[in-house]
Amino acid sequence: MVAIDATVNGGGHAQEILTHIMPGGVFLGIDWDKNILQQTEKNLRNTYAAYDQSRITFVWSNYARVREICSQKSIPPVHALLADLGFSSVQIQDANRGMSFLQDGPLDMRYDVHSDRPAAHEVVNSFSKEALADIIFTYGEERHARRIAQHLVERRKQERIYTTHQLAALIEEILPRRKTQRIHPATLTFQALRIYVNGELDNVKTLLADGLQILAPEGRVGIISFHSLEDRIIKQTFRTWEKEQKGKIITKKPIVPTNEEIEKNPRSRSAKLRVFEKA
Ligand SMILES: C[S@@+](CC[C@H](N)C(=O)[O-])C[C@H]1O[C@@H](n2cnc3c(N)ncnc32)[C@H](O)[C@@H]1O
Repeated sequence: MVAIDATVNGGGHAQEILTHIMPGGVFLGIDWDKNILQQTEKNLRNTYAAYDQSRITFVWSNYARVREICSQKSIPPVHALLADLGFSSVQIQDANRGMSFLQDGPLDMRYDVHSDRPAAHEVVNSFSKEALADIIFTYGEERHARRIAQHLVERRKQERIYTTHQLAALIEEILPRRKTQRIHPATLTFQALRIYVNGELDNVKTLLADGLQILAPEGRVGIISFHSLEDRIIKQTFRTWEKEQKGKIITKKPIVPTNEEIEKNPRSRSAKLRVFEKA
């Protein structure tokens, strides 16, 4: 069996997959975060040292390049392609990544810190008011996007915005947190910047389109998403494929975590898994 984990991170899924497909299988693991991938590769190669290591490949890359990677690494047609989108708790807890306002750190937000894509502080400090508002509205579905953009553009004239806590505090100045409010007023703006900085929705679209190409007949692609923007893209793509008779949707309704799972791992509460099988 040939399997790809397009978002290896700490290797929880990768380990499960390897346990099922080895010793006879072929595994490709991808992640855009170089440090995490290197550490996980080391751990997994140790765990599975008894198996033929040439059957196991790790590539530090954007999963949007999955087709090119399969061709470069001579990966045969794929039976299972899995992607568990977004960021991990390790990345959120690392203040240097600037992914969350829970930690104070530089406003970076890139999964690949070596990339030449602009970091979030460059977007916040140099984009026009209109461009900022569009990003916050489109990728955060934040109804206060224009007010937030206006405020950031005014305040950055006095002091450039470099840290996560600085940005969160500026948003709280105009959207004070009400006692009944479940989420922090900066949550949607942070989500929007992270999606924009990493080109997340375009990456998912390319992963889906190219992922279908590399699947073997009856091969399956499974994607776990964490917010409605991503889930909508996956749901609509699978529906279009089914109409075009490219295969069938396996999950008529997305698979969601049980209450027990949510209790153990609260971040899983918004997870949705959708699976498609190629004809
Ligand atoms: C939710 S975590 C995956 C957790 C993993 N399934 C596990 O079992 O530990 C998401 C991972 O996707 C990676 N990632 C995000 N966007 C990516 C992209 N475009 N290409 C490759 N990896 C990406 C992140 O660096 C992160 O490590």
